[in-house]
Amino acid sequence: ETIYLADYTPFGFIVDSVALTFDLDPRATRVTSRIAFRRNPEASDFDFFLHGEQLKLNSAKIDGAAVSPKITDKGLSCDVPDTPFVFEAEVEIDPTGNTALEGLYMSNGMYCTQCEAEGFRKITYYPDRPDVMATFKVTINGPHPVLLSNGNPVSSSEHHAKWYDPWPKPAYLFALVAGDLIAHPGEFTTQSGRKVDLNLYVRPGDEGKCAFGMEALIASMKWDEEVYGREYDLDLFNIVAVDDFNMGAMENKGLNIFNSSAVLASPETSTDMNFERIEAIIAHEYFHNWTGNRITCRDWFQLCLKEGLTVYRDSQFTSDMRSAAVKRISDVIDLRGRQFAEDQGPLAHPVRPESFQEINNFYTATVYEKGAEVIGMLKTLVGDDAYAKALDLYFERHDGDAATIEDWLKVFEDTTGRDLSQFKRWYGQAGTPRLSVEEAWEDGTLTLTFTQHTPPSVATPDPQPQVIPIATGLIGPNGNELAETRILEMTEARQSFVFEGLGARPVASILRGFSAPVVLTHELSDADRAHLLAHDTDTFNRWEAGRTMARQSLLAMITKDAAPDSAYLDGIHAVVCDASLDPAYRALMLGLPSQSDLASALHDQGQVPDPAAIYRAGEAMRDAMAARFADKAQSIYDACKIDAPYDPGAEQAGKRSLGNAMLSLITRRTNGDLAQAQYDAADNMTQQLSALACLIRAGDGETALAKFESQWRDDRLVMDKWFGLQVLEAKPEEAAAVADTLTKHSDFNWKNPNRFRAVFGSLSVHHAGFHHASGDAYALLANWLIKLDAVNPQTTARMCTAFQTWKRYDADRQAKAAAALDRILATPDLSPDTTEMLTRIRGV
Ligand code: ARG
Ligand code: ZN
Repeated sequence: ETIYLADYTPFGFIVDSVALTFDLDPRATRVTSRIAFRRNPEASDFDFFLHGEQLKLNSAKIDGAAVSPKITDKGLSCDVPDTPFVFEAEVEIDPTGNTALEGLYMSNGMYCTQCEAEGFRKITYYPDRPDVMATFKVTINGPHPVLLSNGNPVSSSEHHAKWYDPWPKPAYLFALVAGDLIAHPGEFTTQSGRKVDLNLYVRPGDEGKCAFGMEALIASMKWDEEVYGREYDLDLFNIVAVDDFNMGAMENKGLNIFNSSAVLASPETSTDMNFERIEAIIAHEYFHNWTGNRITCRDWFQLCLKEGLTVYRDSQFTSDMRSAAVKRISDVIDLRGRQFAEDQGPLAHPVRPESFQEINNFYTATVYEKGAEVIGMLKTLVGDDAYAKALDLYFERHDGDAATIEDWLKVFEDTTGRDLSQFKRWYGQAGTPRLSVEEAWEDGTLTLTFTQHTPPSVATPDPQPQVIPIATGLIGPNGNELAETRILEMTEARQSFVFEGLGARPVASILRGFSAPVVLTHELSDADRAHLLAHDTDTFNRWEAGRTMARQSLLAMITKDAAPDSAYLDGIHAVVCDASLDPAYRALMLGLPSQSDLASALHDQGQVPDPAAIYRAGEAMRDAMAARFADKAQSIYDACKIDAPYDPGAEQAGKRSLGNAMLSLITRRTNGDLAQAQYDAADNMTQQLSALACLIRAGDGETALAKFESQWRDDRLVMDKWFGLQVLEAKPEEAAAVADTLTKHSDFNWKNPNRFRAVFGSLSVHHAGFHHASGDAYALLANWLIKLDAVNPQTTARMCTAFQTWKRYDADRQAKAAAALDRILATPDLSPDTTEMLTRIRGV
């Protein structure tokens, strides 16, 4: 069943209050609800329908009198009075049998919930839609030391707890946790003087992994006050770590629930990247308290209203906490890898989709990451001050609302006087605009003429020109910046911009800071590109110049059997050896475009990518880099040694990342000795895991892998790395077999999403391995998706995206992929989630 944005109508009733009582039992939890309804004056349809799925209804009453509602597998309907009334129900649910991890379920003996997007309907009968907001009173009865729900605690005694959340909220923000948990406490005083108790709840044994998360939470609370003027609004803020979780984390009001991989951290068990990701996710969920909870979404089509904005906010936070240049580059790498791929294939959809079948399938890179890019563009267009004013108005005008993208854009229109109707196309059109530029130079005047074109897609067959802010600077012949960065505001399909009064012809630095999520083609001579790599004052575009040279060289190696471009190698050698630059930035300079990015570039040029050839080119390029850096790799590696205790902050992390990039080049050119030495000496996971990866690549991994396993077999999160790394570092022809072998390991708990993803998420990002000509990886993943779908549709549907690019490849691979897809599609009782994804991916 397809749902359309255009069909929105308000619910017929307003919920004034909700009282829930949970009598916990692993197999038969009783949920008693008492919900006060009255007619919604803004509605016209007063049919009373409550969502409810997989519930056993014991009894229902209206105003105290028993009723017998009509029940379907989607919910309940019944006759109700015209006047305000109280609906009561008692239902029974089975948390243990809930392997889909949506609603109330068990994870390692603890009760937990995940209600976004539509999980609350698996807990009790309710209008489970985000525009129905109410205050919740929750009573929990159960034999557990810790019994948590949203809001503030009202009372608690042994085996009983009462909670009240004074902030009206939609049901998707409901949460409950019960178990034998340990609190890592903290506290925060808000700018207006409210004292807030903070807790990070974990299972016994994980106490040593809480400190960093707590610090990140406090930093986030402070940052949101300072930068957005947003204060926390309850006396308590709890975070709970859960081992079985479909996504990263969830912003339930006052009770955030996290995948343990997204919150638990210690130097010995977590890499620098883990620390950074955890800090960002804690911030993200905390920031949702305003952008998501206080102001929520009218319907799920507006998901980007909260997600795009909150991703944008967490990226600002990370830029402030760490290096803004490094964060921007990392975000663009991620956007190109995930969102551009999505936009180029059968799953392309607008940031605000117009229809869907299963909303869980729309928690995508487009909604999240492109949604954040759209906000970045808006800020670039209106300027920082206007952005701050618009946000103030947004919070003031819409606090307590279930809002829309129209509401969001209106605050910008009202504060700036701008007409944003064309800008709004960023929300309504799928596809990544292709932007190209031609230069004309005459008498001291440089004219840049841009052309934009968005490839049509099923979702957007006829794309119209968009508003593209093109941040542009000019670099003079001596490497000096000739003028400040200008924002060229492109609105037409083709449009020129003029720079006058220039003494000598400059090199244009276009799309600085990646000011719009587009694919830019800017033909430059090799010398000009190298000039930007050497001199661009914009840190993003300087990196981008190197990246473009790398891409062009790799494409020439793939299609024309060319040798690695020595100008590129010389250019990055100079930057990487420049000790005045941030080590983290230098490390990023050493990165290459991913194999799937190269496949995508070839596809864009109308060619059929050959994964094996792409892989070989990457290897040859790395060999060339190892040779080019033979002179300096060891000294840079040595200079990156750290003599202080481990700290996950940007400074040390940057050094480790550069040092490990050098280790990898050294190992490639020599042997595994240095990696072995680093492995043996490592006292933190970053150093240990990097060394292990080098050893595997050098063919020397076996002993270290066995040692690693015996050291970490009791740590789930570290073992996820052990599973994942072996797949990621496998040779292309062995990747499927390695994954297959790992599934036979006694610790391969395939029902745990983290473990499943460790193996199959890794396999699906191993480009040459997943798309190996044998088709073995396609078939293996299909087998496991069929198996997983029966227990966890959401994670299965998400993993189907591994196949989203299948039509790029040759006929033989396509036939093998199609066979795998058809085999999954033919599975009896395939979930609606997976069916929707696969029918879109498979196409006709
Ligand atoms: N709102 C959460 C976040 O981005 C994501 C939860 C999505 N869950 C889901 N089942 N679709 O912070
Ligand atoms: Zn979010």
